[in-house]
Amino acid sequence: METTPDPFLSERAFHDLQARQRSATFAERPGALAVDESAYLDHETWIRPALARLGEVRGLRVLDYGCGHGMAAVVLARRGARVTAFDLSAGYLSEAGRRAAVNGVRLDLVQADGQRLPFADAVFDRVWGNAVLHHLDINLAGRELFRVLRPGGVAVFCEPWGLNPLLSWARRRLPYRGKQRTRDEEPLRLRQVRTLEHIFPEVELRGYQLLSMVRRVLRPGRLTAALERCDTVLLRRLPRLQRFCRYVVLTLRR
Ligand SMILES: C[S@@+](CC[C@H](N)C(=O)[O-])C[C@H]1O[C@@H](n2cnc3c(N)ncnc32)[C@H](O)[C@@H]1O
Repeated sequence: METTPDPFLSERAFHDLQARQRSATFAERPGALAVDESAYLDHETWIRPALARLGEVRGLRVLDYGCGHGMAAVVLARRGARVTAFDLSAGYLSEAGRRAAVNGVRLDLVQADGQRLPFADAVFDRVWGNAVLHHLDINLAGRELFRVLRPGGVAVFCEPWGLNPLLSWARRRLPYRGKQRTRDEEPLRLRQVRTLEHIFPEVELRGYQLLSMVRRVLRPGRLTAALERCDTVLLRRLPRLQRFCRYVVLTLRR
């Protein structure tokens, strides 16, 4: 695999370290690698609707782009997709491989840089990515995505969104669980969406977690469920409020 300068190396070192820390848990409790599909689909409010945007995947060639721990890849393989999953972190790929074995599915795992993919043109029917594009140069990644997606294919990405000034302040200043960040990642902004619109004929954006972003610091319960219901109504009636959401789901059609 070719190396690219600094950001690539620091991203890889960061994610390899995270994977190493996780691997101690799995060595003690291999059963923890079993994927509870409902728990995964509902661990964040955008995952279930975003995966649904891929449509029926049985028999399709699906790429999990920056697969990390490989949970989505396992879910997609269980749904009958032929899944290729890549990541730059060998540590995460090894965890994804063990997860696939424990869950009895086949994944083609590849170590690669999302900015220069080692795949032929137009080989994937669908592409899935969660929390990954905002680590990359969007122009390089977008062009590679377009190249490997077949005409008529669909890519769905869930990414942190960076237009809410209060949230940006909280991300910078407040301590909270699971806050570890790499040096170069930045929540997506309109500039990156415009870049994708230059590459793809169709780009759709939907915001998730407006009031219910308090889930990030509160345990899910009645309050968070009520806020999620408010979000559904507010975002349907006033779509402009999407700009203040915590995450967006981008659907790209080639
Ligand atoms: C926040 S994690 C998300 C992982 C996974 N998609 C998930 O849903 O949990 C970001 C992932 O992007 C990967 N990544 C970062 N930069 C990358 C690059 N240039 N090429 C491929 N993968 C990259 C990291 O190794 C890490 O696994």
